[in-house]
Amino acid sequence: MSTELVVVGLGYVGMPLAQEAIRSGLSVQGFDVAASTIASLNTGQSHIDDLSDTDVAEMVNAGFGATDDPAVLAQADVIVICVPTPLRDDTTPDLGAVESATMSIADALTKGTLVVLESTTYPGTTDDVVRPILEERSGLQAGIDFSLAYSPERIDPGNPTFGLRNTPKVVGGFTPECTKRAVAFYSKVVDTVIPTAGTREAEMAKLLENTYRHVNIALMNEMAVFSHDLGIDLWASIEAASTKPFGFQAFYPGPGVGGHCIPIDPNYLSYAVRTLGYQFRFVELAQEVSGRMPAYVAARAQTMLNSAKKPMNGSSVLLLGVTYKANISDERETPARPIAKRLIAMGADVSFFDSHVSEFEVDGHELTKAFDLGVASEAADLVILVQTHDDIMAAAPFDGAAQVLDTRGALNGPNVERL
Ligand SMILES: NC(=O)c1ccc[n+]([C@@H]2O[C@H](COP(=O)([O-])OP(=O)(O)OC[C@H]3O[C@@H](n4cnc5c(N)ncnc54)[C@H](O)[C@@H]3O)[C@@H](O)[C@H]2O)c1
Repeated sequence: MSTELVVVGLGYVGMPLAQEAIRSGLSVQGFDVAASTIASLNTGQSHIDDLSDTDVAEMVNAGFGATDDPAVLAQADVIVICVPTPLRDDTTPDLGAVESATMSIADALTKGTLVVLESTTYPGTTDDVVRPILEERSGLQAGIDFSLAYSPERIDPGNPTFGLRNTPKVVGGFTPECTKRAVAFYSKVVDTVIPTAGTREAEMAKLLENTYRHVNIALMNEMAVFSHDLGIDLWASIEAASTKPFGFQAFYPGPGVGGHCIPIDPNYLSYAVRTLGYQFRFVELAQEVSGRMPAYVAARAQTMLNSAKKPMNGSSVLLLGVTYKANISDERETPARPIAKRLIAMGADVSFFDSHVSEFEVDGHELTKAFDLGVASEAADLVILVQTHDDIMAAAPFDGAAQVLDTRGALNGPNVERL
């Protein structure tokens, strides 16, 4: 018997897709290479924020299973690839997982299967990297024997309003027939499906979205630095500008960018541009500007302590929220780490409060975790608001704290200084 969908890569992107497909009545199996992930999923345990253990248990009860046995791939009507696309140390794309997942699929590929790549990557990957592997190893031809498409993932972890189903899905096929087939598949799972000209346009759409945010956040970060020097509360200016009903979209400064979409993905595009012999200057500038923010936060923290006649060396600094965005537990590329690293290097005694994180390590140095926000904020020489988790904001405004550096423009008070 065939399986309607096999999801390859059962992480932040693959699991919500598998869940929504099961809810839509499809038969779904998962393929992964991580033994611990497979074992926990099969016993109904979730390893990602957006799915609870109950969600996973419901999926398992509905027939979902995770495996590293490639035999499952041979049974699939549709295979969607959701594997990681990290950067190498030299910041060039690391397509190792995409290539190895594609090889597993190619070796099991049967006629009539639809293969979709969802991993974020540079334009041309589906056609130039995935297609040759599939065709050469299987002896089958894309657009004739099997269908091939790219559909960017738009998952926003922790977003309570927009999930997979109500976020429009862009789909671009290798041929118009491939697009049609992919649109028909995603229409079973997602409310609105947007067909686009081809795989490259769909790949570029994702990088356009990420780069657009990256550049605009960096613009706000640069403006925050000189607004402070000019004595301007940039958040108040953003609020005022946001009243314009057209031509303006609000972005906000912060302590630095984290996660995957903003600091990592645009590198895929600048890499592709560099192969043409020139640079994607906006991305590189955004990287540089936002990359400097953790150092700026540390310098501002030092200045604040100095104004209270305290040296950073020996002062206690409490970081509120150490994940890369609010209300999730994901620490990937979190700016809290480089901030803590700089504070520690200056001799501060750094602790953290974060109900989403049990341990927080910085270069082998485990920070002390505070459990009582009130007590810890009153005991610290300086409190730095890094992430606006709901429970942190519920305890605001930290009147009892000596000094508060607010990197999010979310607090007011005589002891608060905004970035
Ligand atoms: N997390 C997000 O918010 C988000 C949003 C949009 C796009 N993306 C993109 O989606 C892709 C996946 O990201 P993620 O956050 O889900 O990653 P993840 O690390 O959470 O999960 C990826 C999974 O793929 C598995 N894997 C690795 N190599 C494999 C292989 N060869 N075969 C089978 N499985 C393999 C891993 O074991 C892991 O379970 C990336 O390209 C990312 O840029 C992520």
